[in-house]
Amino acid sequence: MHTMLVTGGAGFIGSNFIHYLLETYDTVRIINLDALTYAGNLENLRDVESDPRYVFVKGDVRDKETVDRVFEEYGVDTLVHFAAESHVDRSITQPEIFLSTNILGTGVLLDSAKRHWSLRPDDKYCREYREGVRYLQVSTDEVYGALGKTGMFTETTPLSPNSPYSASKTSADLLVRAYSETYGLPVNITRCSNNYGPYQFPEKLIPLMIHNCLADQPLPVYGDGMQIRDWLHVADHCAAIDAVLRRGRCGEVYNIGGNNEKANIEIVRLILAATGRDESLIRYVKDRPGHDRRYAIDNTKITTELGWAPRYTFEQGMAETVQWYLDNTAWVEHVVSGAYRDYYRDMYDNA
Ligand code: NAD
Ligand code: TYD
Repeated sequence: MHTMLVTGGAGFIGSNFIHYLLETYDTVRIINLDALTYAGNLENLRDVESDPRYVFVKGDVRDKETVDRVFEEYGVDTLVHFAAESHVDRSITQPEIFLSTNILGTGVLLDSAKRHWSLRPDDKYCREYREGVRYLQVSTDEVYGALGKTGMFTETTPLSPNSPYSASKTSADLLVRAYSETYGLPVNITRCSNNYGPYQFPEKLIPLMIHNCLADQPLPVYGDGMQIRDWLHVADHCAAIDAVLRRGRCGEVYNIGGNNEKANIEIVRLILAATGRDESLIRYVKDRPGHDRRYAIDNTKITTELGWAPRYTFEQGMAETVQWYLDNTAWVEHVVSGAYRDYYRDMYDNA
């Protein structure tokens, strides 16, 4: 049985990944380490909180003592690192927290994994680790920078980040690489495209537009709305991470994309139609500084080597996602009003 430390499990992708694991494996133990920043919401995991396979630990990945304690107390053998500051717009106004969480936090986790998994922790030349251990860094296609009208990102595309967010994720990837090269730590890096699906915080494009449509609020489209992203359903992303954990070659990077390149304005129009609103809600606003024009992932490595492929078409994924937000208006209202923060206090502070 694997004991998996999932960092950032109260966020969008992390909570979907925990649901995926509990639905897929009878024998797994999951430790969710999350600091519960504004983006962490334990309501995402309400239905699994009493599952004996699941434990929540409130803590910061930058806190070495907490991370060490989790390794020792639970005997972690697999680490999937999602925790991060993840919103590009916030990184433009407040870069420091991105550097601290995304870079230093990754450094603390790598070092703790090395010390706890090494067969001889005091020997700096030791490259042998306990059998079956693995560190997986959840990264992003944004580390590759922006594409023009043609071409796709492969795993060998040069790293060329453009925002403080993507620069911090790139720095973290380089630390992971360094721990693999210098210490032989068994690692993988996955670089995925833009995710969408249930439990996404409504500051990102798709949930923000759905929320604003339902509230009959204006839809802010940056610049000309012709920036292109390659959309990946979060359930497909979770299955891809699982495939890398089970079959990925040690030390390798795997790109994960949904084969769904869409311009932002197409998505906005699709959401308007799905929610029965018209285009009068669209507002073209000032563009994001340094806005990457186009991302597109070449999936060849993960599909041919690991046999993973995205299962969702964009049409099916978007129809289900819009329906999820319609069916979960209380979740959205709690996020928008900030009431989701009370849930932690009610659940844990008095325990
Ligand atoms: P999110 O912002 O929804 O969740 C981040 C989670 O990390 C939150 O629960 C938050 O409380 C937690 N966290 C933040 N700082 C922490 C700290 N110092 N210690 C412990 N926990 C902390 O993010 P997401 O969209 O779920 O993204 C997860 C990962 O996937 C990130 O590493 C992100 O860079 C990467 N990624 C996301 C996307 C996407 O489209 N959402 C695309 C590519 C890569
Ligand atoms: P976002 O969801 O923030 O993801 P990322 O910046 O990591 O790709 O944005 C997706 C695209 O949507 C991006 O090109 C910026 C654009 N966008 C808007 O046009 N309006 C908005 O209000 C938001 C949040 C994003």
